[in-house]
Amino acid sequence: MKDANFLKAHNAKHLWHPMSHPADSLANPPDIIVEAEGVEIIDVDGHRTVDAVGGLWNVNLGYSCDPVKQAIRAQLDRLPYYSIFRGTSNDNVIELAEMLRDFFEPDGLSRAFFTSGGSDSVEVALRLARQYHKIRGEAGRVKFLSLKKGYHGTHTLAASVNGNANFRTQYEPLMPGCHHIPAPYPYRNPFNETDPARLAQLCLAALEDEIRFQDPATIAAFIMEPVLGAGGVIPPHESFMPGVREICSKHGILLIADEVITAFGRTGSWTGCRHWGVQPDMACTAKAITNGYFPFGAVMIADHVAEVFEGDTSGKAAIGSGYTYSGHPVGAAAAIACLRETARLQVKDNAAARGAQMFAGLQALQDKHPLIGDLRGGHGLMCALELVSDRAGKTPVDKKTIGTVHRVAYETGTMIRVSGPNIILSPPLVVKEGHVETMLASLDAGLSAASGGD
Ligand SMILES: Cc1ncc(COP(=O)(O)O)c(C=O)c1O
Repeated sequence: MKDANFLKAHNAKHLWHPMSHPADSLANPPDIIVEAEGVEIIDVDGHRTVDAVGGLWNVNLGYSCDPVKQAIRAQLDRLPYYSIFRGTSNDNVIELAEMLRDFFEPDGLSRAFFTSGGSDSVEVALRLARQYHKIRGEAGRVKFLSLKKGYHGTHTLAASVNGNANFRTQYEPLMPGCHHIPAPYPYRNPFNETDPARLAQLCLAALEDEIRFQDPATIAAFIMEPVLGAGGVIPPHESFMPGVREICSKHGILLIADEVITAFGRTGSWTGCRHWGVQPDMACTAKAITNGYFPFGAVMIADHVAEVFEGDTSGKAAIGSGYTYSGHPVGAAAAIACLRETARLQVKDNAAARGAQMFAGLQALQDKHPLIGDLRGGHGLMCALELVSDRAGKTPVDKKTIGTVHRVAYETGTMIRVSGPNIILSPPLVVKEGHVETMLASLDAGLSAASGGD
């Protein structure tokens, strides 16, 4: 490794960071993380912090998960790469597909299509949705519906169903035929409705209205995250996703669950869909499937969708999607080990217990700090604090204020994620009580400093 002085001197000079302004990265050089252990990360100065970001919602089992590391090492020695394009396969993907079928059985999903990450999974699911309708003779079903505030990655089709202007405006025009519905976000919504149950009904009515306006026969799929994540952790009311399922089924529209962050236990249930008692037609996964140690993803497909493809005799079902790294043997080996560890540790239970502790602690912080306008979470280890400069006007805080919270939290032992006026918390699912206490204490210190206290 180059020494700390070299790294600091060159930081952000010759690389552009994703989701950042290059000038901002030059003016405010990022923290350089060089090591990690358990659920803690260590920077180039040796400063150790609890990682309340969980990598990027992906390091669910922490940084010291030996079974996954060993599986990667062993696979690199045995078969470091071979493609699974037509005509070849590898032993790991076959075994992994069986394991995924068992894992997703309660969600009604039985076939896997492997990808290199979350955006890829979304892209493939959307493409397969159009293809499904074409095979069935409904070639006019090409449009997609999604939620404002939703995040589905940055490929152009995925960005087109994204519901956040930050990922859209500079890249427009995006794909035609993608339309958005208000998110069930009680703190801010066009209906001025603060009651989550009533708001869910209003959003469902908006969905029905949009479907009729577009004509159901033109719509391929509706895509949503079971709990909106990057858009600021927005858990919908429990009636919302079942309501979406019902409306989609009524109109022959496929429901794609974007489970890139919610699959594998984060909500306190094994999947976000199971959390709400819904079976989707497809689910997009990635991230925690390999504990973040290898770029990998899988689109899971329901039996009835798969049967349309598998029963086709016209040739239309030939899949024209796939990546060089689809089904990578090293990624598949990592995923097999990761799924075994995920099941052995039953991480969903810890996510539920530590999530409840985290949410209760954040409620206490909301009582203490007027900067917290809205607190969202209460479903496993995913929470957000939306910061405002005045509670009555709900005015979002400026960058400096939230920057202070971030810096002081870091200095006092916790890495948090800032996204606009939101602080997003998504720690590894193996955090212990003491780590959650550290996170809460750091946030308390950061919020006090930002509001002019100690
Ligand atoms: C719900 C959701 N979908 C898709 C993606 C995109 O995944 P990736 O960054 O691996 O392409 C993300 C990433 O955070 C996500 O949260």
